Amino acid sequence: MREVIRRVSKEFGISRDEAELVVASLLEQPRFHIYLNGTIDTATQKTLERKLAQLKEDMPIEYVTKRTRFREYELHIEPGVFIPRLETEYFIDLIAQCSKEPPCTILEIGTGSGAIAIALAHIFPTAFIVATDISETALTCAHTNIRNHGLDTRITLMRGDMFDALSGQFDMIISNPPYIPHSRLPALPRSVRNFEPLSSLDGGKNGIQFITKLIERGGDFLTHNGSMAIEIDEEQVDILHELLSKTLSMPFSFHKDLFNRFRYLLIGNTEV
Ligand SMILES: C[S@@+](CC[C@H](N)C(=O)[O-])C[C@H]1O[C@@H](n2cnc3c(N)ncnc32)[C@H](O)[C@@H]1O
Repeated sequence: MREVIRRVSKEFGISRDEAELVVASLLEQPRFHIYLNGTIDTATQKTLERKLAQLKEDMPIEYVTKRTRFREYELHIEPGVFIPRLETEYFIDLIAQCSKEPPCTILEIGTGSGAIAIALAHIFPTAFIVATDISETALTCAHTNIRNHGLDTRITLMRGDMFDALSGQFDMIISNPPYIPHSRLPALPRSVRNFEPLSSLDGGKNGIQFITKLIERGGDFLTHNGSMAIEIDEEQVDILHELLSKTLSMPFSFHKDLFNRFRYLLIGNTEV
């Protein structure tokens, strides 16, 4: 095992400590366990080599281990499902702070792994949530996570294209839609470009194709005092400001992420 750690450290250009963390994570063992037996059996060695080869190909470690964390929640994740990001963890804080009253009903469009829905179900313990996605793979993954967190009775999953197949009104609509401008896709890191589903990234021209639909149709699905929260790209602020000023009668505001970039759009009845 010491030899394996040395090799991983050298091949990936990381410290021995980091190599131990990577190997422990790939073997799904506590770090100290990897030294307990001294040697590894052939089957474990094969699994480890396969996973190391995937990492060398730039596959995100979340897909290799099929696990990720979103805030304090352990989530199952797999290729074909968008890996939840740090900025979205912070988005949840903003929503918690800006909600005048705890929402009773929440709609999430494009739930992916179910990360946002699961976090909001904990923050608003009396809320019922409908979470949609167009991707069957994402919905299967979200279902696993919702069940693992014991939230089956509070989060309902639905398959559909944006608002299609939905009815009723919600106190809060939230979405982290695909918002990367089509032209910027080739410049994304290899780990994103080659492994994450294009349908979770590609926001069309200017990246606002889905955001525009949320703005145009969201009002029909909001209760009287409802609010909408959308994750955006900082380069979209001007174009969205113009669009919202022309088309929307509700108040709206842009908010910064933890790196000081305007990345969130809040619409309607919020605290700010
Ligand atoms: C950026 S990912 C966000 C996933 C998750 N909410 C998160 O924050 O980690 C966007 C999600 O929207 C879904 N999506 C893409 N097009 C859609 C559509 N037309 N209707 C509903 N969901 C869609 C994708 O499958 C993907 O899961």
